[in-house]
Amino acid sequence: MERWTSSLFSLLFLLLLPRPLLFYSLKNCTIDFYDQNKIVIERIRQTDLTGFTRLTFLHLGFNRISHIDDGAFTDLSAVTDLMLGFNKLTALRDETFKGLNNLTTLYLNVNQIISISKFAFEPLKELQILYMESNNLFQMSDIVNIVLHCPDLKNISLNHNNLTSFESDLFPVPLLNLMKLDLDSNPLKKFSVHPNVFPNLETLKLLGEGSDFDYSVSDGALTSVRSLTLYETKLPLPTYKLIFQSVDSLENLYLSDSHLESDKGLLEMACEIPTLQKLDSGDYFIPILNESILQSCTNLTELHLQSNSMSDLTESSLQMLTRLTRLTIHQNQLSRIPLTIRNMSTLTFLSFEDNLITELDCLDFTNLPSLTELNLKSNRISKLETCVFQDLRNLKVLEIQENVLTTLSDTFGSTLKHLVTLKADGNNFRWFQRGTFQNLPALRELNVKSVREIIVEDGAFMGLKEIKSLTYSPSNYDIGSFTSLQQLEKLAMFLTYPACIKEQTNKELSVNLPSLQELSLVIEKSACFSWTHSLLKGLSNLKTLTFENYCCRDFDEDKFIYLPQLINLHFINCDHSGLDKQSCRIFGFLVEANLTKLEMLILKDNVLTVINETIFKALPSLKYLDLSGNPFVCNCSNTGFIEWAIRNKQVQVANAFQYRCSSPSSEEGNFLLDFNVRWCWEFTGFLCFISSSALVLLTLLSSFIFHFLRWQLVYGYYLLLAFLYDSKKRRQDCPHIYDAFVSYNVHDEDWVYGELLHELEERQGWKLCLHHRDFIPGTAIIENITDAIYSSRRTLCVISHRYLQSEWCSQEIQLASFRLFDEHKDVLILLFLEEISSNQLSPFYRMRKLVKSRTYLSWTQARSHKGLFWEKVRRALECGHEPGDNHNPLTADA
Ligand SMILES: *[C@@H]1O[C@H](CO)[C@@H](O)[C@H](O)[C@H]1NC(C)=O
Ligand SMILES: *[C@@H]1O[C@H](CO)[C@@H](O)[C@H](O)[C@H]1NC(C)=O
Ligand SMILES: *[C@@H]1O[C@H](CO)[C@@H](O)[C@H](O)[C@H]1NC(C)=O
Ligand SMILES: *[C@@H]1O[C@H](CO)[C@@H](O)[C@H](O)[C@H]1NC(C)=O
Ligand SMILES: *[C@@H]1O[C@H](CO)[C@@H](O)[C@H](O)[C@H]1NC(C)=O
Ligand SMILES: *[C@@H]1O[C@H](CO)[C@@H](O)[C@H](O)[C@H]1NC(C)=O
Ligand SMILES: *[C@@H]1O[C@H](CO)[C@@H](O)[C@H](O)[C@H]1NC(C)=O
Ligand SMILES: *[C@@H]1O[C@H](CO)[C@@H](O)[C@H](O)[C@H]1NC(C)=O
Ligand SMILES: *[C@@H]1O[C@H](CO)[C@@H](O)[C@H](O)[C@H]1NC(C)=O
Repeated sequence: MERWTSSLFSLLFLLLLPRPLLFYSLKNCTIDFYDQNKIVIERIRQTDLTGFTRLTFLHLGFNRISHIDDGAFTDLSAVTDLMLGFNKLTALRDETFKGLNNLTTLYLNVNQIISISKFAFEPLKELQILYMESNNLFQMSDIVNIVLHCPDLKNISLNHNNLTSFESDLFPVPLLNLMKLDLDSNPLKKFSVHPNVFPNLETLKLLGEGSDFDYSVSDGALTSVRSLTLYETKLPLPTYKLIFQSVDSLENLYLSDSHLESDKGLLEMACEIPTLQKLDSGDYFIPILNESILQSCTNLTELHLQSNSMSDLTESSLQMLTRLTRLTIHQNQLSRIPLTIRNMSTLTFLSFEDNLITELDCLDFTNLPSLTELNLKSNRISKLETCVFQDLRNLKVLEIQENVLTTLSDTFGSTLKHLVTLKADGNNFRWFQRGTFQNLPALRELNVKSVREIIVEDGAFMGLKEIKSLTYSPSNYDIGSFTSLQQLEKLAMFLTYPACIKEQTNKELSVNLPSLQELSLVIEKSACFSWTHSLLKGLSNLKTLTFENYCCRDFDEDKFIYLPQLINLHFINCDHSGLDKQSCRIFGFLVEANLTKLEMLILKDNVLTVINETIFKALPSLKYLDLSGNPFVCNCSNTGFIEWAIRNKQVQVANAFQYRCSSPSSEEGNFLLDFNVRWCWEFTGFLCFISSSALVLLTLLSSFIFHFLRWQLVYGYYLLLAFLYDSKKRRQDCPHIYDAFVSYNVHDEDWVYGELLHELEERQGWKLCLHHRDFIPGTAIIENITDAIYSSRRTLCVISHRYLQSEWCSQEIQLASFRLFDEHKDVLILLFLEEISSNQLSPFYRMRKLVKSRTYLSWTQARSHKGLFWEKVRRALECGHEPGDNHNPLTADA
């Protein structure tokens, strides 16, 4: 069973999700077979497995497969192991296994197979192991059809079927390779074997019932059988006798029966098999074992007596077993160590597991010089005197777990110089004083995990020079008691104290465990543990670190920087009680801690909701990740993780297909990997589409604007500057230095200097500000212009075509018109030097507005009457000389 459950390769989901990329995440996935809601396969279609020509291991167990299409396995010629157990198959047809030419192991156990067609097994020429137990086979001919085609068959399990007879006559050829035949738990009425049918059969399991059971085995037919199991047989003594006589080379016999009269003398009869070495018998009713019951078993080397309701053994009951090396008396009712074992000088292994022994006497193990292993597990022993083991000078393994011991004296083990393993967990130890284990110089493995916390004095583990593995449950105060175990490779601590005692653990520990490779810390739910950095300091060889129920608040990146060799990290069921979930920084430290060698990361049963898969980039060696039992959120925030879990080829996300959503409520209970990430991509895509469209439109618009409305934009810019400047100036209320600011284009300079300046400055006496005369070259022109406009009462614009093309000139108009509108002072005098149609003014919309709504001066029209023209200019300049004269500012006729 273990073999199957540790499934190596499941195709469960492969069949549902046809992308071959999924392969890696399934490579070693372990399925929760007992999950009722899992996805199951009910049928294997012919095309489901096409193309898997290199597959060697196929696990399709624990589904509800009731039908396999003919030829479904045709491509699987490389498969050597096929697991089809625990399904609902009822028949095997001729074409079912077609193509499985290299198959050596086939599991068909726990199905409902009633019949096997004649050629079903024909392709399986290489088959060696066949598990066929727990089906409904009832015809011997089906078995014949199997063995006929599989000449290499070694082991076949047919137990728990419905066979009523097994007759080797029906086999047309001898089964030369058959080593193991299991016919247990069939309602057999007839078992007949003739010589040379199974010349190499070693192991046979049978079940027969009733006085009409026909056992006809020829002499020498089962002479190769070494091991015979007869569980729950209910046969008359003479039939047993027949059976025992037929297996004349038997070494191991397993017998079990329930309270039948025929028990009497059965063991004695079995021991008459001259080659018998091992007798294993259970479920017989032998309240007191006396010397007559095993009197003929003198040659036994192993004796196992379990569940026989034995309360005692007489003093001489085992004394005749002078060759016995292994004796186990499990699940009986012994209340003391039976006297009969004393002086059994050949014994190497002795076990009294699961009895009612309360006390050990100093003489109990007298003269057992060969004993190396003693098992006293699951009894009621409360005390260990030093003298108890005094004769066990060669003892290597002592198991005394699950008793009620409370302490070990400092002389404990003073005779156990060779003890290598001491398993004493599950006792009630409360206190280990200094030197408790000092007499165990050879001890390598010590487990003293108690049902409660143990007070461990400093130096309790002193003298354990060879210790490699230590498991115990220290109290919070004694957490550092292991600190100087130089050889220690594995340390497991179970902290079971009830309250959160943080302060005491904060004492600096000087840990010196240079060999430590494996550390696990398991904390009871109610407890809270916290450590200082120094606990992990110096553990430079640590490879595996496990925390269970650990307080998350202490995940701290610095604590891991000392672990350069870490390969496996397990955080299981981190305790978040009373903590804000956000405070768990599991991922924070993973990124920071430089765990470059980490290969296995187990984060089971935590409260992780969203996984940011980018953190796994910080773990370059990661191969195995287990996140089972976390309350995942199934929305777009896990999209990245889902995609990564499916597609990445390095990290195997164990059980990924079993992860379930805990929120939002609409997704609750669904599988995480079923969450439709496409929707998220579509949504993101939609956003992308919108934003890129917007960008394109904007670009188009900008170039359009730039091309057609460039000047307007530039004006706008200066307008803004001007507006700002204008507001500033307005507040300052500067005095006027000039009568007029003359705005003109440099090309009209001749006219300005020749005509305008001459007339207005020299003849009329106005003080003018001229752009080129009064501006200092290189200064910020816009500032100067603005200053000039505001320092002048009027702005005189000499407008020509060139003027209109120069942005500076227009700028001046803009500024002036600002003054006009915002200061309600009309400062602008427009002097048209050339004829300009209103169409040509169109880009200069503001000026156009001015021209349209007001009168202006035109040089071209006034050429003949210069005097009148200049008079008009004089009047315009004069106008508004007095403060408050705002009306009718610009007076002229076109
Ligand atoms: C599968 O993973 C388990 C760990 O859970 C490991 O022990 C085992 O060796 C792996 N098997 C293979 C074939 O990788
Ligand atoms: C069967 O297995 C053998 C080795 O075990 C291999 O050489 C051969 O190629 C396999 N056959 C197929 C069809 O894969
Ligand atoms: C076993 O086989 C007999 C016929 O040989 C049949 O009547 C009986 O129902 C079968 N039992 C089971 C459990 O299939
Ligand atoms: C096959 O049978 C032999 C003989 O009993 C045994 O030693 C071996 O373990 C069996 N193999 C399997 C895979 O069960
Ligand atoms: C014990 O084994 C010896 C051979 O070692 C044999 O001669 C003798 O018959 C056996 N005794 C029994 C009771 O089978
Ligand atoms: C030994 O025990 C059996 C069964 O418990 C009993 O029948 C038999 O009389 C006992 N023999 C002796 C010598 O006490
Ligand atoms: C991380 O570890 C690598 C090798 O283990 C080492 O070279 C590197 O310096 C470490 N980086 C930091 C920041 O500790
Ligand atoms: C994932 O983590 C990386 C770095 O660790 C970070 O830059 C990124 O923003 C995170 N992504 C999300 C969705 O939180
Ligand atoms: C032009 O600006 C400079 C410095 O900004 C200033 O010194 C100069 O007087 C200004 N000219 C006029 C005409 O405002």
